[in-house]
Amino acid sequence: MKKALITGIAGQDGSYLTELLLSKGYEVHGTIRWDSIFTTERIDHLYHDPHVNGVNLFLHYSDMIDTGNLEKLINEIKPDEIYHLAAMSHVRVSFDMPEYTVNTDALGTLRILEAIKNSKYPTKFYMAASSEMFGGVNPPQNENTPFHPKSPYACAKVFSYHITRLYREAYGLFAANGMLFNHESPRRGPTFVTRKITRAVSRIKKGLEKTIYLGNLDAKRDWGFAPEYMEIMHKILQHEKPDDFVTATGETHSVREFLEEAFKYAGFEIESNGKQGIEEEYIDKKTGEALVKIDPRYFRPAEVELLVGDPKKAREKLNWQPKIKFSDLVKVMVDADFREIGMAAPGQGDKILKERFPDRWWTVD
Ligand code: GDD
Repeated sequence: MKKALITGIAGQDGSYLTELLLSKGYEVHGTIRWDSIFTTERIDHLYHDPHVNGVNLFLHYSDMIDTGNLEKLINEIKPDEIYHLAAMSHVRVSFDMPEYTVNTDALGTLRILEAIKNSKYPTKFYMAASSEMFGGVNPPQNENTPFHPKSPYACAKVFSYHITRLYREAYGLFAANGMLFNHESPRRGPTFVTRKITRAVSRIKKGLEKTIYLGNLDAKRDWGFAPEYMEIMHKILQHEKPDDFVTATGETHSVREFLEEAFKYAGFEIESNGKQGIEEEYIDKKTGEALVKIDPRYFRPAEVELLVGDPKKAREKLNWQPKIKFSDLVKVMVDADFREIGMAAPGQGDKILKERFPDRWWTVD
């Protein structure tokens, strides 16, 4: 039985990856940060009391700023594979907490690599790098595109990318970077723009909210479906040699398109008032109410305007190809958010999942 350690197991990616690895027969260990409230909602359906026999999921308190704790975990668990997903992953927040972000997201990676190197155990290491490292320069972005990070978060990821590559070259570790473009799902945290929109759309539909406040509507992203991106993480560590891969759909859409598509799918007819910047609003054509307004709080001091990935290398070398693209993703997410607040979902998203993933290994939310 292979053993995996997932840092940041309670996040969107950690929870899906856990399901994937458990379905493949792994013993999975995951790190969570201590908090006074439970933060394991996304993995509760997978977790059993450790006193029960046959359990193969174990949780450990940890923090990427605690070197001794990381060393102890790696030495005790002796994982065959480490998936390093833990990070302060909100780009906007990284401008408010730059030092914490770099300590966690950059030095955290170094701490783990040092622990692996010193343990002498042949652990393979997956580093969750990010399309944010490209900063929107030279689209479509691939493994050879130069980096131009535009946030403390992205700067920290560039460091992690390079230190991972360096430990591979200098010490012969099986250490690889997955340069994943945005990947979303019903488990996405509600402060990221896609989930913020699909959640608000369903709540507005139910009458729980009137308006959603957003920032830059014209930023463009290459949005894929998170469970599909977990498969590539696993494939990267099963590849014959450690290497770095871009993972993306190859399509790009604006935040504006995402919100128009989500409202339309939920049965609204909305149109922009045609004004610029913070004056712009989206109006419900039936009621005349403003459903979308702009709040400059959500603007970033530097913005990544355009991301579109070129996943050719992953397609050719890892046989990876995404099945869910933009408009399907919107439907899947809106359906789940309708359900979450007890409304009947429009249902096309559920149908898409059933048809395209007959052997689905994750639980539909
Ligand atoms: N979060 C947020 N909230 N973003 C908004 C909003 C808003 O109200 N309004 C507009 N946006 C714009 C942002 O300015 C950005 O251009 C875009 O929506 C996407 O923002 P996020 O969903 O926060 O994601 P991100 O692209 O900054 O970063 C995510 O993807 C990266 C992969 O490229 C994060 O998951 C990163 O951790 C990840 O590395």
